[in-house]
Formats: sequence, C-alpha cells, structure tokens
Amino acid sequence: MQHVLDLAERVSRISESSTMKVAADADRLRREGIDVVDFGAGEPDFPTPDNIKNAAIAAIDANFTKYTPTGGTLELKKAICDRHRDDYGTDYAPAECMVTVGGKHAIFNLMQVLIDQGDEVLIPVPYWVTYKDVVNYAGGKCVFVETDEDTGFSFTAETIEPYITSKTKLLIINSPNNPCGSLLPREEFERIYHLASKRGIQLMTDECYCRFLYDSEPFSIAAMPDAKENVVIAGSLSKTYSMTGWRIGFALAPKPLIDAMMKLQSHTTSNPTSVAQKAAVEALRGPQDSIKIMLAEYRKRRDYVVARLRAIPGVHCAEPQGAFYAYPNIACGFGLGIDSAMKFSERLLSEAHVAVVPGEAFGTTEHVRISYATSMQELDRGLDRIAQFVGDQQQ
Ligand SMILES: Cc1ncc(COP(=O)(O)O)c(C=O)c1O
Repeated sequence: MQHVLDLAERVSRISESSTMKVAADADRLRREGIDVVDFGAGEPDFPTPDNIKNAAIAAIDANFTKYTPTGGTLELKKAICDRHRDDYGTDYAPAECMVTVGGKHAIFNLMQVLIDQGDEVLIPVPYWVTYKDVVNYAGGKCVFVETDEDTGFSFTAETIEPYITSKTKLLIINSPNNPCGSLLPREEFERIYHLASKRGIQLMTDECYCRFLYDSEPFSIAAMPDAKENVVIAGSLSKTYSMTGWRIGFALAPKPLIDAMMKLQSHTTSNPTSVAQKAAVEALRGPQDSIKIMLAEYRKRRDYVVARLRAIPGVHCAEPQGAFYAYPNIACGFGLGIDSAMKFSERLLSEAHVAVVPGEAFGTTEHVRISYATSMQELDRGLDRIAQFVGDQQQ
C-alpha cells in the first residue's frame, strides 16, 4: 500500500510563490530552446558593485568564515543603524537591529513572533505576494484594504480606518510598492501612522525599494518623533545594492521584538552568512553612487515602458513613482478563452514567449506585473510581443 505522507496542516495554508513559479516556467521554456523575454524577475540586472565583491573576497582570505552572533556582527548592525540615520534621520541603536537572511526572513520572523491565531493584519491591495502567505502561516487573518486603480492605487487613513477591528494587530505598508510602484506621500504616511498608534496597532514598513524614488526624496516613517515604539522596519540590501543572491536583510524594531526574533532565528538559520555580512558592511559604508546610477537607468526604462504600454489600445497603466515594476490593466486582452490575468499570463508565455506575473498573485484580477529591471533591448522586444498579443485578442 502506498504510504500517504501526513503533512502538517500549516503548510496547506501557504502556496508556492507565484514569482518563483513564473521564473521556473520561463526557465523550462528556455531549456526547450525557446527565446523567452523575461519580465518576471524582481531583481536588478546590474552586477553587485566591485567594492562589495572585493570585501567578500577579503573576508574569505582573512578566514572570516565561521559562525557570527545570531543577529549579525556588531560591525554590521552599527553600519545598518548609521546608514539609516544618515539617509533618513533615525536614531536606532544596535540593540534595536538584527541582520536576517534577506528582507523576506525579517518579515517571516516578525509574523512568527507577533501574530497569534486569529490576529488580523491589514494589507493594502495590491500587495507583495509573500505577506499573505507569512501571515497565514503564522495563523493570522489577512484583511485586504481595497484601493482604487483610478487614483494610482493610493490610500489614506480614512481608507484604512473602517477595516480596523478589536483583533487588528498589524498594518503592513510597502512604499514604494511592489507590484505597482505607487508611493504613499509623507504626510499621508504620517496620518496613517498616527491612526495605527492611536488604535494600538503595530506598523510594519517594508523599505525594500525606499531608495528608488523617481520624483521625491526618500524618507522613513521611523524618523518621526516617538514613532520607533510602534514601527518595525523590514529592510533589505537586495535591490539597493544589487545583492539579491547574498541574502542580507535586516529589521529595526523595539528591543523586545528584536529579542524575540533573535530567539527564533537562533533555532532556525542562526547567523546570515559571515562573508555576506562583510560585503554588506562595505555596501553600507562605502561609496553610494551605484544607487544613483541604477535609479537613473530605471527612470529611463519606466518612462519608456509606461509610454509603450499606454500606446496599446485599451491598456491602462498607472505611472510608477518608485521601485522597478509597471502594473498595467490588460483586461482589454480578455476574450477568446482568456478571462483572467492568470490565463492572460499563461497564454502570453506559451504563445508570445513573454514572462510576466499575473495580478492574482498581488490581489487583483485585471493586471500583470512587468519588471523593467532588464535591458532596453529586452524591454523593446517584449513590449512588441505584448502589443501584438493584445492586438490579436481584440481581432
Ligand atoms: C516588497 C518586497 N519586500 C521584501 C522583499 C525581500 O527581498 P529579499 O528577501 O531579497 O531581501 C522583496 C523582494 O522581492 C520585495 O519585493
């Protein structure tokens, strides 16, 4: 008799990351020899800067290859606090900081130590895929805050307030946003922070794309007087320094939260890779010009992608104000067996060989996410194919 493996119930509460699935599907076609244009990947196409790579090589040569403290070296925690202070005017101490294995890990740790069975977590739509799964895995309940595409998916304190109940424990803000690039303006962010703190709700700000703003200066809500008590920052070096594979993220939070997350991490990953930590110190303390260079390139690409998408009859696209994603509404391409963004994406990949991530992954049904962290040449080729594909559906 075949043995049926009895998996833990909690695993059934999560699903495979859609962005990872798109990458695997595109990869499969490529291995079959098909020329795929990949707009799925959420990672910079720039190499990690040389000074950062050299710091890692020096660390290996110096045999810095053993365990470090669970929450990262003091050297790196100081570098994180100093960079955050210099960039945003905050005043975190190393005891309020921990280093994690990528930003995703900081978010996972937080949910595990903060969210109890039945606790509600407010998540504005569209949202980054992982939030939903890590909240569900912790036993919490996601409460999605609907936003309006016509206003660029913006939301205000008044939008959020009706969703608050006695069970609301956490509000997640990701600005600039993955997948749509929208930005929560500073004054509104402050109003939302006041609402959350008045109602005793913790606010997690995911600052993954904070340095990539097109028309305004970066800021952190944690720089507001007294905000530190109610705010948890999930940070990442992945996009800022083009270090996705190095897996270095961090949390800045009140000490009791950091201590709890550290306890959990001591039994899971232990410390992030020692060598990557040395590279991260160099990233944070060394020259910062690579960020400006990437941002200038992303701006050029954003302008091009949005103009090309808007030129396709029936396609709408809100202008991204940060990050490196466009999130067009492609409902005009429905029909002929396509009735959802999921179907649209599947057919776009199998017939036109362009990989995008369907909106269902982010909580909407009429959009796809296009990552423009790829060359202008690839953007050009892919957008030609998308325009042709949408046109074909409308025949
Ligand atoms: C909004 C957002 N937050 C956090 C992360 C985590 O990145 P990492 O785990 O590579 O630091 C990502 C990565 O795509 C992201 O898009």
